[in-house]
Amino acid sequence: MKKTLIILTIIMLTVGCSLNNKNKSDKKKASFSKLSYYKDENLDRYKKYKENNPKLSDEDIVTRVNIGLDNNYYTNTIKTPFLNSIKILSNKYYYMPNDYVPENLEKISSECSNGTRQLVKEARLSFEKLCITAKEQGYVIRAMSAYRSYNYQSTLYQNYVDKDGVDAADTYSARPGFSEHQTGLVVDVDDGKYSFTNFHKSSSFKWMQDNAYKYGFIMRYPEDKVDITGYSYESWHYRYVGIEAATRMREEKLTFDEYYFRYLDK
Ligand code: DAL
Ligand code: ZN
Repeated sequence: MKKTLIILTIIMLTVGCSLNNKNKSDKKKASFSKLSYYKDENLDRYKKYKENNPKLSDEDIVTRVNIGLDNNYYTNTIKTPFLNSIKILSNKYYYMPNDYVPENLEKISSECSNGTRQLVKEARLSFEKLCITAKEQGYVIRAMSAYRSYNYQSTLYQNYVDKDGVDAADTYSARPGFSEHQTGLVVDVDDGKYSFTNFHKSSSFKWMQDNAYKYGFIMRYPEDKVDITGYSYESWHYRYVGIEAATRMREEKLTFDEYYFRYLDK
């Protein structure tokens, strides 16, 4: 009799406990699923990521898992959709085909670049406006690198690997197909005095911080978002996303990866 009672108690406790766990799990699902960018197929990954990163908000958990950050960089890579669009995403999970050359590439005026650099028309027009307005206000901002082909990036990346090894090169150079420069929507800038890697020391950098978004450009690899972008801080690398997106990303302090998985990945 006593034995039966003990067994019954154990069964009741076990059932109670698993119901409690189920309740907790359902509550967690409910709080994630309130977000407009929640994806049901990622639920188990959200839960696991939350367990490993308990301090992150639900917004950050869902966004980061949607980006793919629960997998190592360059794993589960995906051909990027939105080719030939300012919505195109290029990062360590999303790549462009090796024969992808954006449409409407045009040369940046020599006043705003160091030679024959090219951007997609819309980005070129906006960059020239930015550069000319900056110049009128006393700041030099020149495009030192812009569109780069798959093959060019391939050589560049390989040179860095030969010099520093794969692990170090991956922190600052994109593998071919994964470089945002291949989108034709990116410029690396300098001020004509500092080398571009020291651009953050220039007054032109300060001007870019205050004004780039008004022309639809964002600093793509900020210092405090290295764990999201996978690249070390690049004060010189600006991506054209359009004025509306650039303004929102600035207000909400989002990288393009985060912005994409909250608002564009429909
Ligand atoms: N330096 C950037 C990450 C690139 O190689 O595209
Ligand atoms: Zn760059």
